[in-house]
Amino acid sequence: MQNHLYIMRILKPLALLLSIILLSSCMATSKKEKISQVEKQLLYAEKQLSLLLVDAEKANKIPRTLDEHGQMHFTHNNFDWTEGFYPGSSWYLYEATGDVKWKNAAEKFQSLFEEHKNRTTNHDLGFVFNCSYGNGYRLTKNEAFKEVMITAGNSLLTRFNPNVGCIKSWDVDNGWQATRGWEFPVIIDNMMNLELLFELSKLTGDMKYQEVAIAHADTTLKNHFRSDNSSYHVIDYDAETGAVRNKHTAQGFAHESSWARGQAWGIYGYTVCYRYTKNVKYLNQAVKIADYILNYKGMPTDGIPYWDYNAANIPNEPRDVSAATVTVAALIELDGYTETSYLPEIDKILRSLATEEYTAKLGKNKNFLLKHSVGSIPHNNEIDVPLNYADYYYLEALLKYEDSYSPKN
Ligand code: GLY
Repeated sequence: MQNHLYIMRILKPLALLLSIILLSSCMATSKKEKISQVEKQLLYAEKQLSLLLVDAEKANKIPRTLDEHGQMHFTHNNFDWTEGFYPGSSWYLYEATGDVKWKNAAEKFQSLFEEHKNRTTNHDLGFVFNCSYGNGYRLTKNEAFKEVMITAGNSLLTRFNPNVGCIKSWDVDNGWQATRGWEFPVIIDNMMNLELLFELSKLTGDMKYQEVAIAHADTTLKNHFRSDNSSYHVIDYDAETGAVRNKHTAQGFAHESSWARGQAWGIYGYTVCYRYTKNVKYLNQAVKIADYILNYKGMPTDGIPYWDYNAANIPNEPRDVSAATVTVAALIELDGYTETSYLPEIDKILRSLATEEYTAKLGKNKNFLLKHSVGSIPHNNEIDVPLNYADYYYLEALLKYEDSYSPKN
């Protein structure tokens, strides 16, 4: 009996040690498996987007989406907010593969809109120039690209109003925006233009860019969010006093609903603000938005949201894959800043996106990578289609995942 007890005393810790070793080797294997799935997706993306490149080269135009007849719709030449994403995807594929064909493609397609760096009539300069020239500069250190970014950043600064503390999103003297009674509309999407400004302060040492970015982020923090941490789409300000005039939507289901891509722009935007400033209030805001998105009761089990969290006919509403790709790209970065791990949710979203439900078969979907995104349902525009920015943020997420979770040796 005593012998038996003695043996047990020795064996128990050994068994524990053995199970710890087994568990960690299983975890390492599953980590390796997940990374190899991500690498497989990147390889597949390269194949599919090589086909899209042939179409783009032939037309010498930037692919944006498909029209209502299922035909290719290219960006228009007069400043299209999505024009930076296609060269941006080419930069990501250059980063993933090292193949110079993608560098050449990125340079060629971004040059098509270089002149738009001088436009001061639109806030989307950050989206357009950071995703294209910004990635180009990050990967090549080509000084000419930096100069383009500086000019675009200076154009963006002209839209800042210190009375409001924000960059104006849309001009209201023409187009559908002129019909809403707005004076100084600021949309949550505008948080995505701040990365260019933060980056410019880092590159030039001139803090004027970062100061505007911080003012914009702070004003948005104050006015754009509801008590459940969901966000309005449009806040309309009085340009003289900075008072809030209206809390509206443009692309969501209703003024008081939560447009899915808007929530995605918010979490991404505040994660970027934390990256550059290390101010914990931005981290907290990103975490609160993540909580809203991930705990939303009506979220489908595959983690790909409906186009609006409060759309009237859920579950018979279109999904918005672009909202999922922006969200997952943000979550991967956020996961590196928080003690709470978002990895299970990140894995779920990426696993879903890689299925045939969302990833197009080779040569299908007019050679875009992902299906089932939504541009704007209230405008009856781009409903259940591929979108170049869904592909862009998906590639970004895959690269960030590889970078963040690959076993270090
Ligand atoms: N900023 C435009 C959009 O998200 O549709």
